[in-house]
Amino acid sequence: MPERVTAFAPGRVNLIGEHTDYNQGLALPFAISEGVTVFAEAIAGDRVQATAADLNKRDDFELARPPSVGGWRAFVRGAVAELQGAGVPVRAARLRISGDVPRGGGLSSSAALEVALTLALLELADIREFDRIELAKICSKTENDWVGAQTGLLDQLASLLGEDDHALRIDFRSLEITPVILELGEFKLVTLHSGDKHSNAASGYNERRRECALASEELGVTSLREATLEAAAALPSPLDRRAKHIITENQRVDASVAALEHHDMDELGRLLDASHASLRDCYEVSTPAVERTVEKLHDAGALGARIIGGGFGGHVLGLMPRDARLPEGAREVRPGPGARVMDR
Ligand code: GLA
Repeated sequence: MPERVTAFAPGRVNLIGEHTDYNQGLALPFAISEGVTVFAEAIAGDRVQATAADLNKRDDFELARPPSVGGWRAFVRGAVAELQGAGVPVRAARLRISGDVPRGGGLSSSAALEVALTLALLELADIREFDRIELAKICSKTENDWVGAQTGLLDQLASLLGEDDHALRIDFRSLEITPVILELGEFKLVTLHSGDKHSNAASGYNERRRECALASEELGVTSLREATLEAAAALPSPLDRRAKHIITENQRVDASVAALEHHDMDELGRLLDASHASLRDCYEVSTPAVERTVEKLHDAGALGARIIGGGFGGHVLGLMPRDARLPEGAREVRPGPGARVMDR
C-alpha cells in the first residue's frame, strides 16, 4: 500500500461544442499542460487534512462523514464522500493542493481539482484500475452535489482522457470518445482572459441548463440532441434561441472535425466565429469584456475566436497565424496528456 502519492490533472480548452454536454450532444475538447497537483500522504486516525497551497488555507474533517461546506473545501470533501459512496476505502490522509491553471477562468480549474483529488485518493487506496468514464461521473457528482454547479461531463472527460496532440470528439449520448489529431499547420491556438471572472455555480449556467430541460420537455424529446431546427423555431422565447444554439453547435463540432481532417484552417476559423456568435446571440453567455477580448484577437489576425467554457466571463480562444503578434496576456495552448499519477 503506497504511503505517499502525487497526482496531476490538467485543465482543458474546448475547441468547439459549448453547452452541448448536458444536452447529450457533441464537443471537441483537449487537455492542456496547466493543471492541479495533489500530494497525498496516508496518516494515522480517521480524518482528512487538506491544504490549498495557493490560497494558504486549510481544512480538516472527519473521513467517514464530511460535512458540507462552500468554496474549495467543497471539492475536497465531495471527492472523499463520493469516492466512499462508490465503494472506495478512502484512507485518512494529509493532502496538499497546488495548481497553475487559472482559477475561475473557464479552463476547468474545477475539474482539474476534482480529478487530481480523486486520482490521488484512489492511488493511496492502492486502486489503479478504475474506469475513467466512471471516475468522470464521480467527479461531476462532486461538482453537482457539493459545489452546486449543474455541469456536465465535458471537463472531467477531457482532463481524464486527454491525449498528446489530439482533441477528443466526445459524443455525450453514447459516451463514445474519438481522438482527432490537431494539426494546425501555419496556425496556433491561444487563450486570452477577458478579465471577467467566471463561476459555473454563481453564473446563469444552472439557469441555461434548466431552460434546455424545459425546451426538451416542450418538444417531447429526451434531449436537445433529438430536436430539429424547425421544431425549435416554434418554441417560446428564449427557449427557441437556446435550442437553436445546441442544434447548430452540434453540427459545428462535426464540421470542425471535417475541417481539421482537410487542414482547412479558414473553415475552422469560421466555425469558431459562428460558435461565438451563437453563444452571444442565442445562448446569451457573453459579456462586454468577452466581446472586447474577441475583437482584440481578431485585430491581432485571428481566423476565428470564441468564448470557451461555461461562459459569463473567463477565457477566449483564438486561432492565430503562427507568427502573429499576440495581445498582452495571450498564451499558446496545445493538447497534452490526461491526468496521471506522478510518482509513488
Ligand atoms: C462548463 C461545464 C461543462 C460544460 C461547459 C460548457 O465548463 O463544467 O460541463 O457544460 O461549461 O460547454
